[in-house]
Amino acid sequence: MSENIPKLRAALEGMPAYKPGKRDAAGGPVSYKLSSNENPYPPLPGVLEAVGEAAGAMNRYPDMACSGLLDELALRFDVPVERLATGTGSVGVAQQLLQATSGPGDEVIYAWRSFEAYPIITQISGATPVQVPLTPDEEHDLDAMADAITERTRLIFVCNPNNPTGVAIPAADLERFLDRVPRDVLVVLDEAYREFVRDERVVDGLEVYRDRPNVCVLRTFSKAYGLAGLRVGFAVAHEPVAAALRKTAVPFGVSQLAQDAAVASLRSEDALLERVEALVGERSRVADELRAQGWTVPPTEANFVWLRLGERTDDFAMACERAGVVVRPFAGEGARVSIGEVEANDLFLRAAEVFRKTM
Ligand SMILES: Cc1ncc(COP(=O)(O)O)c(C=O)c1O
Repeated sequence: MSENIPKLRAALEGMPAYKPGKRDAAGGPVSYKLSSNENPYPPLPGVLEAVGEAAGAMNRYPDMACSGLLDELALRFDVPVERLATGTGSVGVAQQLLQATSGPGDEVIYAWRSFEAYPIITQISGATPVQVPLTPDEEHDLDAMADAITERTRLIFVCNPNNPTGVAIPAADLERFLDRVPRDVLVVLDEAYREFVRDERVVDGLEVYRDRPNVCVLRTFSKAYGLAGLRVGFAVAHEPVAAALRKTAVPFGVSQLAQDAAVASLRSEDALLERVEALVGERSRVADELRAQGWTVPPTEANFVWLRLGERTDDFAMACERAGVVVRPFAGEGARVSIGEVEANDLFLRAAEVFRKTM
C-alpha cells in the first residue's frame, strides 16, 4: 500500500499542529472570545470604506510589491522602503525569514513557552528547534539562550513581550544579549504586541535594529490595529535580509483588501491610540483585580494576562467557558486570557474569583 502514498517530508512527522483559540463557549447564553489576543473593537475609521473599494476589484491580482503600504509604513516608522517587507501576517513573515536562513542541520533558538507557531514553522523549514525554558519568573532566560548558540544556529526568535506570558524584556538585558550573538546569526525581535507596551524600560526594536545588521523587527496589523482577519504583517530589516524576505514571499500573498485596510489603519492613528489606551487600562484593571483575588499574574505588557495553573488549567478553561468566556488553555501549564470588551473582562473576573476559591 505504502507505494501508493506520496512521499512526504520526514520533517512533518510528529510536528505539533497550530491550535487556534476556540471561537465559542459551548451552549452558554453569551460567548466572548478571549482566546486569540484579538482586538475587540470593530475596524478603525476609514477601513471598511477602503476594503469596500478594494473588494470591487477582486478580479485583479493585488499590487505584488505592496508599494502603497510600504510607502505609508516608511513614512509612519521613518524607515527606508528598502528595509521593509510584508507578508501574510507576521507569522507569514516569520516563515519567510526561516526559509531565507534555515534548513536541515541548522538550529533555531527561542524561549519556551513562547508563540506556538515557532516550533511549527521551524520544523517545516527542516531546521532543529532549540527551546530554552523561561525563568521561574516567566522571563526570557537570555543568558541560557546565548549559551545555546552553536556554529549551527541560524536564527533566534525573541518574543517581546512574550506570548503567552506577557512579560517584556528590559532594554539593558536585550542589548547585553545581542552583544553576545555572533553577527552572522539573525535575531528576530517579534513585537506583535509592541503598541501595548507601557514600561519605559522596554526598548522599541526599531531603535535597536538600526546599528545591528543581524537584527530585524516583526510587527503585525492583527493585534492593536484589529485586522487579524485580513492577514498582513511586516518586517523592518537591513537591506540584505529585507531583500531575502521579498524572494521568499508567496507571490501576491497579501490581498489588496489587506493592503488598503492597513494603509487606512495607519492613517487612523488617533483612533488607534485611543483604543489601545482603553485596552491598556482594562489590562491594569484585570491584572490588579486578579491579584486582589489571590492570583499570581506576571507583569504583562501585552493585551492578555497569563495564569500558571498547572494541572488545573483545563478545569479553569471549562469554568470560564461555562461563564461565557473562552480563554486559551495550554494543558498542564496555564491559561492565557486576552483583554476584551469590558463586559467580557467582567465575566472573566467573576469566573476567576469563583474558581480561585476552589484552589
Ligand atoms: C508573538 C506573536 N507573533 C506573531 C503572531 C502572528 O500574528 P499574525 O500572523 O496575525 O500577524 C502572533 C499571533 O498570535 C503572536 O502572538
